[in-house]
Amino acid sequence: MSEFEFRHGVMHAESISVPDLAARFGTPCYVYSRAAIARNWKAFQDHLPAPHKACYAVKANSNLAVLQVLAELGAGFDVVSGGEIARVLKAGGRAQDIVFSGVGKSEHEIRYALEHDIGQFNVESDAELDRISAIAVAMDTTARVSFRVNPDVDAKTHPYIATGLEANKFGIPMQDALDTFKRAATLPGLEIVGADCHIGSQLTETQPFLDALDRMLALVDALEAIGITLKHLDMGGGLGVTYQSEQPPAVGDYIQALLARMASHPHLALYLEPGRAIVANAGILVTQVEYLKASRTKHFVMVDAGMNDLLRPSLYQAFHDIVNVCESSAPEITGDVVGPVCETGDFLGQQRTLRVAAGDLLAVKSAGAYGFVMSSNYNTRPRPPEVMVDGNEAYLIRARETLEDVWRGETLIPAQTEK
Ligand code: LLP
Repeated sequence: MSEFEFRHGVMHAESISVPDLAARFGTPCYVYSRAAIARNWKAFQDHLPAPHKACYAVKANSNLAVLQVLAELGAGFDVVSGGEIARVLKAGGRAQDIVFSGVGKSEHEIRYALEHDIGQFNVESDAELDRISAIAVAMDTTARVSFRVNPDVDAKTHPYIATGLEANKFGIPMQDALDTFKRAATLPGLEIVGADCHIGSQLTETQPFLDALDRMLALVDALEAIGITLKHLDMGGGLGVTYQSEQPPAVGDYIQALLARMASHPHLALYLEPGRAIVANAGILVTQVEYLKASRTKHFVMVDAGMNDLLRPSLYQAFHDIVNVCESSAPEITGDVVGPVCETGDFLGQQRTLRVAAGDLLAVKSAGAYGFVMSSNYNTRPRPPEVMVDGNEAYLIRARETLEDVWRGETLIPAQTEK
């Protein structure tokens, strides 16, 4: 099921036609469906009754209204910066439902997190543990900590988004985990509550998750044997979505497979940190065709959105389906859909077959995750607006940037006088 369907030859976002949205908000423009976000969230929530817990990975899409929709549904949140903590709190999320991941937590961020008494820190190194302990002691409080362990499994995904191999910078090596936990148990200001891992993103098979879980459960047992009892295992995010023809497991099947493996540990709760699976297919990027151009060897569809708006195709050669939002009788062409940015790598899609004419509106699909959040002002391009559709209503949840927004904070220096 999709909230972006064609009706009478025109793509709709829930009940509103995409051309109407483009007329109202301009292009390029991100459009999200509240119903899709809620449906994707509920699929996780329904399979994770308390004490299990899903924590939405805020990095995937951190717009305040997106977080608000999830907070209203009772979501937990996985954050990677003080800024993301502030966003969750501003959107109405509860501090105790926040898990704080990330390899480089600053003193300031740790203090801020402790002031708000967040749920837990997912600690990535011994040095970070010492820092958290010292700050918690100085603040006369206790930090709940989990250790991110690197289970060294191959997630079989793009190397830039695989995180659970020993060669990656994340977490502590499995061989060192026992010693690290032992040491943590001797430090003041800490309460050990769990262990966590995240092996990568856009995984389309359950097996790597199960391999990681087996290793984590062996660690749980080894800890138990030395008197350290964990309350939960956080298996991170990473469930893939369909961008093209991938067939990731259904959310329920994936969670049931994990829970079945954990049946031997009935007192251990499962935490998950889904990001992409909640928002990717709940969003599109709407863009207008500026020109059609053909060289002797190639067609180009030049659109008004570029790599600064949606970086994934350029950065990861990621595939996003691109469709004309109105059924068209224009001649079919096969070519690259490219943006206006001055980089050869600025494309949204390559070798796509489309019926398209200048002025048409295209939808770049599955753009709700790692879309706007990875956008930039490269080429002094104001970033696009974000719109949340809810049934018949469309809300502007982030205004299109103005040039003043783009150069806010920049200043001229005194003019150089003639010598
Ligand atoms: N938890 C941790 C500790 C993570 O590092 C990540 C993602 C997640 C959860 C959420 O993973 P998800 O469920 O979304 O796969 N920019 C890349 C993706 C980077 C993901 C980084 N970590 C992309 O556009 O594909």
